[in-house]
Amino acid sequence: MSAEKTETGWPPPEVDFETLSPMRRALKRALINPLANYLPAGWVRALLRAAKSELAAANWADPGGWRSMVLSYDGRARQIADRILINAGTMAMALRNRKRLGSFLIARLIDSAGSGPVHVVCLGAGPGQIIIDALARSNPTARASLVDHSADAFAFGRELADRSGLGDRVRYIQADVRGFQEFLDGPADAVTMLGICEYLGDEHIVSTARAAADVMPDNAPIVFNSLSFAHGTDRFFRRVFGLHMIHRGPEQMKQLMSEAGFGEFRAHGEPLGVYHVIVGRKLAVAGGG
Ligand SMILES: C[S@@+](CC[C@H](N)C(=O)[O-])C[C@H]1O[C@@H](n2cnc3c(N)ncnc32)[C@H](O)[C@@H]1O
Repeated sequence: MSAEKTETGWPPPEVDFETLSPMRRALKRALINPLANYLPAGWVRALLRAAKSELAAANWADPGGWRSMVLSYDGRARQIADRILINAGTMAMALRNRKRLGSFLIARLIDSAGSGPVHVVCLGAGPGQIIIDALARSNPTARASLVDHSADAFAFGRELADRSGLGDRVRYIQADVRGFQEFLDGPADAVTMLGICEYLGDEHIVSTARAAADVMPDNAPIVFNSLSFAHGTDRFFRRVFGLHMIHRGPEQMKQLMSEAGFGEFRAHGEPLGVYHVIVGRKLAVAGGG
């Protein structure tokens, strides 16, 4: 499951992954994905509009935005079209797997960082569901700064954090990830870039990760993800949802992060093969210090 450096005891029993039976996989490959990918996009869009699909509307309004993510995470859709896309769609299942895997790994990193107050900086955090889950199950002195350029993500996120009793441990910073450093109130013991790199060009990933490295001590972790075509419906997402994701495998992602000064990577796969969540460490600069 993991691309390399497979850990013993993986997958951890704490992570409740969603999987597909071989039969469902075969059905998707042979019938459902080709239909989704090759039916005329105009028809499918009209159908989704008529069915009042909230998922489609969220993607049309803000492709790759936080609202469609929240709908996929939540899994409880009101409209029948959304129920199908969200519960049975490989991409939505993989997103929930990535969220569970991400929060599990971040919680583990927080706990292994010692008993002091750990500060996690989340870039492109959306409302922060992943870090809120991680904070809820790790060292109670840890806190997080969430950076996103969308203000309405934060209104939703604040409510979520308050409901989990974490309102005073989560700080929301409305900013582009390009200039996030100037808004921080202290160094970052860990940085996450989950669910954002697939919307950024190579140079933007490297410059953002370099800026992250500048506010991290040596050996501090960075958490990010790869994205493969294993979901089988990229053509559907592009034509119907207007969603243009950049697919990069674990090796490509590691290469970009190594250009920004990170190394010692460990890639953790989810069972649908769509995402790897990768943890890297900030390398000490030779002769630096
Ligand atoms: C797909 S959502 C992922 C949210 C969250 N990280 C997760 O995985 O659940 C991507 C988020 O990145 C934010 N985003 C994209 N580009 C950004 C940028 N250049 N600066 C700040 N936020 C950005 C979007 O507003 C959105 O909330």
